Amino acid sequence: MNAQFLGADAGEDKRGAQLRKQAARISRSSDLMMRLIADLLDGAKIESGTLRAEPHLEPVEALLDDALDLFRSGAREKSIQLGSDVAQRVPDVWCDRDRVLQVLSNLIGNALKFTPPGGTIAVTAVPLTDQVQFTVADSGPGIPAEHLPHIFDRYWQPSGARRGSAGLGLYIAKGIVEAHSGRMWVDSKPRHGAMLSFTLPAGSPAPRPEELPISSELLGRPAPLPAASASHQANHPHTDRSDNR
Ligand SMILES: Nc1ncnc2c1ncn2[C@@H]1O[C@H](COP(=O)(O)OP(=O)(O)O)[C@@H](O)[C@H]1O
Ligand SMILES: [Mg+2]
Repeated sequence: MNAQFLGADAGEDKRGAQLRKQAARISRSSDLMMRLIADLLDGAKIESGTLRAEPHLEPVEALLDDALDLFRSGAREKSIQLGSDVAQRVPDVWCDRDRVLQVLSNLIGNALKFTPPGGTIAVTAVPLTDQVQFTVADSGPGIPAEHLPHIFDRYWQPSGARRGSAGLGLYIAKGIVEAHSGRMWVDSKPRHGAMLSFTLPAGSPAPRPEELPISSELLGRPAPLPAASASHQANHPHTDRSDNR
């Protein structure tokens, strides 16, 4: 962007500092504008049923790592604990990587926006029968019951919402998930934080340890975990909640 060049050429004096500040402001505004335009275009594609996903098999842990990386410094600045937890033996998912990062970014971005300093945001992935369920849960104020039926609507925002976004985020996120034959829903109780979940089609399930070529008992050490993290083990029970549209 030209604004960045303007800032880069600025000198070290007071005038240069002012110039850099202005350049940064122009750059932020133009980023915001680009994002709004991209959202409007995505919204129009979803509306007309022309949003396409190009799915490939993607490992879940890497997806979550990449999504969280985008928000680590923002979370640190707000003293919010941001973490992920991938259940054992989560298979890879069939998805358009960039589009799913867009979905996760919207959910984590919302959680970061609404959660007060000192709170937590947890992103989890658990296997279902032939899908993987992703959940972004925060410790913020939650979503009032009367808003729940509207949050996936196009352009919807509660009255008095801050400017700078168009109320398209969750509409687009849900449209992207549905373009993958998945579904998205919300669970939220006031003062208990918001919980947004979605599913994606699973690839072939990870082999059981006994199906691996060399038995781990023979080697005298714990079985390796083929498609899931050994460091983030959690055996979450699956609760297949009904849609709350
Ligand atoms: N994690 C959350 N906590 C509280 N409210 C939320 C959360 N996520 C979404 N919302 C509510 O849903 C609305 C719609 O979200 P979204 O579609 O992303 O639009 P935007 O972020 O542009 O307002 C938000 O304005 C907010 O009122
Ligand atoms: Mg949003």
